[in-house]
Amino acid sequence: MRAHQTTQPETGSEVTPRTITGALAPTATLVHAAGAPGGEWWRHAVIYQVYPRSFADGSGDGIGDLPGITARLDHLARLGVDAIWLSPFYRSPQADAGYDVADYRDVDPLFGTLADFDALLERAHGLGLRVIVDLVPNHTSDEHVWFQAALAAGPGSPERARYLFRPGKGADGAEAPNNWRSIFGGPAWTRVPDGEWYLHLFDTRQPDLDWENPEVRAEFEDVLRFWLDKGVDGFRIDVARGLVKAAGLPDWHGEVSMIEGTETAPKNGSTGAVHQGPMFDQEGVHEIYRSWNRVLAAYDGDRALVAEAWVESLERLARYVRPDEMHQAFNFPFLTTRWDAGALRRIVTASLEASDAVGAPTTWVLSNHDVVRHTSRLGLAEAGSRPNGIVRGIGRDDEQPDEALGLRRARAASLLMLGLPGSAYLYQGEELGLPEHTALDDDLRQDPTWWRSGHTERGRDGCRVPLPWAKDEAGFGFSPTGATWLPQPASWAAYALDAQQGVSGSTYETYRNALRLRGKLELGTGSLAWADGMAKVDAESVLAFVNRDVLVLANLGSDPVALPDGAKVLHTSAALNASDGVTLVPSDTTVWVRLAA
Ligand code: NOJ
Repeated sequence: MRAHQTTQPETGSEVTPRTITGALAPTATLVHAAGAPGGEWWRHAVIYQVYPRSFADGSGDGIGDLPGITARLDHLARLGVDAIWLSPFYRSPQADAGYDVADYRDVDPLFGTLADFDALLERAHGLGLRVIVDLVPNHTSDEHVWFQAALAAGPGSPERARYLFRPGKGADGAEAPNNWRSIFGGPAWTRVPDGEWYLHLFDTRQPDLDWENPEVRAEFEDVLRFWLDKGVDGFRIDVARGLVKAAGLPDWHGEVSMIEGTETAPKNGSTGAVHQGPMFDQEGVHEIYRSWNRVLAAYDGDRALVAEAWVESLERLARYVRPDEMHQAFNFPFLTTRWDAGALRRIVTASLEASDAVGAPTTWVLSNHDVVRHTSRLGLAEAGSRPNGIVRGIGRDDEQPDEALGLRRARAASLLMLGLPGSAYLYQGEELGLPEHTALDDDLRQDPTWWRSGHTERGRDGCRVPLPWAKDEAGFGFSPTGATWLPQPASWAAYALDAQQGVSGSTYETYRNALRLRGKLELGTGSLAWADGMAKVDAESVLAFVNRDVLVLANLGSDPVALPDGAKVLHTSAALNASDGVTLVPSDTTVWVRLAA
């Protein structure tokens, strides 16, 4: 790995670089004008996703928890993020790692207590970190009191009307009501002993709610207020595209999927391959978000909603962040774009145009708990392919990513992302350069996809392995006992936080420096102009844009690129080279540069 490299220019390169020349202004293509510095925090914030079971364990049982998070919040404050998003910590049987909620107003004993949550929130706020929590409104757990009541009450009851129960088809009702498939594999319907079926777009233990029912709407507004009253700064909305289904639940012959990669470079901002259908992106979801916007607006402090919505195009995505709906929506088309300068340029342009059209920020993201970590995606022969952690998680028998190359590209991708105007999300461990665990024993897997697919799809455990904090401690310091709910690869010692802190050029220090500069230079509220006039270089291998007065240049090609005379390097994702007094940006490297006046 390259955790310990220097970021100072090195001398002695033999290659003939391509040279960037020319004045910027006359031939720049302005895509996005700078906003006023300041404004609502979520327009430019860097938000760090904490996946509670894998961040830090306070109790010693090998599963991360809220006290563990609180004890490590100073790491996040030092890193320089503005906010954290906590994946679910609510009462849950953990059939989908907490995305199966049994009680929306309580903490699961696995993670602590409500008092532990209050302590976490107070400490975070004390450190200047905002806190977003996860809301899972599409489905509950089968252990939720509503679902238990629905099972007990029987067909036709008001208790059943909170979910999507239907009679089956065929003479004896033995066929499912329609042909929908679960995103985790297998049918999307389960039959109960009295003969009715219920819909679950995910696991059989995650029954879908019926959002046409006013009781469901009232309940979730109340849940929002419960956490808002505690002082949370916002909500990440799970399956935001799925709450409302097309009337009559018609058959759908397409493939149902949560995440799709762009198998080819996307054009005009289309993600190309996300499979929609009557279960997703229906017009009716927007009224729900308008009502939630009103709930949040009654509170002080610019509370925010962020949509997890895998929809067909950036234009469809922008509809979730119209002025009276949510505030942010994860930019998954950016996440799924391959390591290709032309494709990235198209997606960045289309993203900014689509979000500008509704006055929202673009919300960049490269990794999360559902996708293959970008360090590993970018180390594949087809760099950036295979984002889908659910059905294409990488196992031992698959192509193994090139770890060093993947990390080098991941650092370049992250510096590119953090140079863009808008908000950005980081997934825990990416600041350490962690790769996916691609050699996990199959018998340790816990993702329901593994079971529901009959052990053909490995699922997301590989990106959920507990973080390494201390290189010489058992379990790399994740837990006071050394226990970890999934094993960490031995090679992770080199990625541990204490192996990187204070080490110039380490991935951790590179992120930290990027966040500090991003804030100081106000890049989050900045502009984007493609630096066409600068680049006597191949647009298919070099991305160059100006944000305020900073040139961000990512070299995705194989030849080095020379910086213009007088360019002052502010930050770089890897060591630069020098030849005859010219600074060279090597392959798979991003630099932030201030140009000579
Ligand atoms: C999206 C979440 O990110 C994922 O982890 C979960 O399995 C599904 N929604 C179902 O809640």
